[in-house]
Order: sequence, then C-alpha cells, then structure tokens
Amino acid sequence: MQAGVGDHYNAVAETYHQQYQRENLASHSVYPANYFRLQILVQRLSALRLKSVYEVGVGEGTPLATIASMGFRVAGCDIADAMVKKARANFKSRGLTENLIQWGDVQDAATLAGQLGDGAFDAVIAAGVLPHVANDQLALRNMGMLIRDGGHLFVEFRNKLFSLFTFNRYTKEFILDDLLRDVAPEVKASVAQELDKRVALDLPPVRNIAADGSAPGYDAILSKFHNPFELTEVVERCGFKDVRIHWYHYHPAPPMLEGKIGTAFRKAAMAMEHEGSWRGNFLCSAGVIEAVKS
Ligand SMILES: C[S@@+](CC[C@H](N)C(=O)[O-])C[C@H]1O[C@@H](n2cnc3c(N)ncnc32)[C@H](O)[C@@H]1O
Repeated sequence: MQAGVGDHYNAVAETYHQQYQRENLASHSVYPANYFRLQILVQRLSALRLKSVYEVGVGEGTPLATIASMGFRVAGCDIADAMVKKARANFKSRGLTENLIQWGDVQDAATLAGQLGDGAFDAVIAAGVLPHVANDQLALRNMGMLIRDGGHLFVEFRNKLFSLFTFNRYTKEFILDDLLRDVAPEVKASVAQELDKRVALDLPPVRNIAADGSAPGYDAILSKFHNPFELTEVVERCGFKDVRIHWYHYHPAPPMLEGKIGTAFRKAAMAMEHEGSWRGNFLCSAGVIEAVKS
C-alpha cells in the first residue's frame, strides 16, 4: 500500500528550510532547486504587480513568508501537521500572523473554503504538490476556486520529458509506456530488450525510507511525473488560458554522472538556471506552469 504524503513531509519538516539558506546553495547535499523555483515565483509575482497570494502545500513556510515580505496579502495550507506547525512558527518569528497558515488538502475544497473570507486571491501557488495529488483535475479546479477571474496560477510539476536525458529506468519507462504506448507488443519487446542493455536500470536508487529511517521515503509515496504537453491541456480544461512554462533544476549531464564529475556538475547546473530556451524541456527535471484563470 502507498504510504501517506503527510507522513513523508512530517518527517522532513525540521530540515526543509535548509534548502532556502543562501549559504548552503553550493554545498548542501540536496541541489537547491527549490531556491531557483522561488526566484521564478518572486520574479513573476513582482512583474505581474499582483497583491495577494495563496499557497497550497506551504511546507515550512519560507517561500510564502518571503512573498509576504514583498507586501503581498498571503495565506496558505498544508496537509502535513508538522509542516503547518513549522510554518506557523516561521510566520510568528517574522512578525506575521500564524493563523494565516491552516491545515488543508488541495483535493478537498471544503478544507480550503475557510480562507476565502477576505475574497479570492490574485494568484495561487502549488510548489511540490501536484506530484503527490491523485486527481489533477480536482486539485486544479480547487485552486481555481481560490483565484479571482483574470488571476494567475503557478503550479510546479516533475518533468517527464527529462527521462529522455537520464538514460536510466525512467528512460525505459517513458519510451515504452508513453512514446510507444500503442505500438505492437512484439516491437516494444525488441525495444525493451535493447534498452535493457543500454540504460542503467538500477538508477536512480529507489527511496523507500526517509534518511533517518523513521518515515516513508519520496518513492514510497505517490510522486508522479507530468508530461508538459498533456499537463498544459489539463490546465486549460480546468478553466485556465495563456499557459506558459518556466523551467528550472537544469542538468548539465545525466544525473548518474554527478558523482564522477564532482563539484563542476553543480556549478554548471547552477550556471544554466534561468537559461529560458527550449532546452529546459529536456534538461530540467521540473517546471512551473503559469496560467491565467479564464
Ligand atoms: C515539496 S514540499 C514544498 C513546500 C513548499 N511549497 C516549498 O516550496 O518549499 C510539498 C508540500 O506540499 C504538501 N502537500 C502534499 N500534498 C498536499 C495536498 N494534497 N494538500 C496540501 N498540501 C499538500 C506537503 O505536505 C509538503 O509540505
């Protein structure tokens, strides 16, 4: 049985903020992808001159608190109790109202309704949430409920197309299950045989248990990839228009080479962030979909 998303995030609540500490960018064991995602969000919210932001899945609250410090009216929710507690403490320590953070599930509109008291928001953010959601359309429509007409949606997703650059088990899965989905079984069997010889089927290691052994790891919970072509259509079907994608978490080489290349890998990756071309479709493991509520 698939473990609970909340259980996984409860276990990482204490250390999650480290990803947002500038001094850790080059040295932290985890690539600072979230930091680059926050840069994108801050830039876009500022360029659009919006005034209010709601975040579903606030985590420990650093991104939303940063946005609040820009002068936005903010509120948010999370499904993990430990994250709600941590985000509230984070808000309090920065002089922000802790009750702006509530427990809520993006797949349950009733748990979000209580935060519409001051009116719908100019923008809704969901960063690191869609991979964990079983029903994308339900989640997207619930986010739409929180946005005023003409307001903006920002949703992060894990990029399935990146599988073509990883040369590992994800490559095999993407080629067989997505690209060749309707191809005759005997043809696919030949392709599968060839791929077995050419890609690293044992990579990346499956993360079934959290680092401290106390909770389910990232791969033990629902953590989906999305195809940006398909996701764009789904977002449009859920009442949004003018969809565009901001790419981040660049890879200057397939991830399996990071150990061999060493520190030059991260340096090169960080130098590519905000590159902004079509390459992001293949070199980035994540993107932020931006869309306007129609
Ligand atoms: C990857 S973390 C990112 C946290 C924060 N958005 C950030 O950018 O730092 C994702 C967060 O979404 C929360 N989450 C996952 N599924 C959710 C759901 N259905 N409703 C609300 N929050 C959810 C998790 O508990 C976790 O705190």
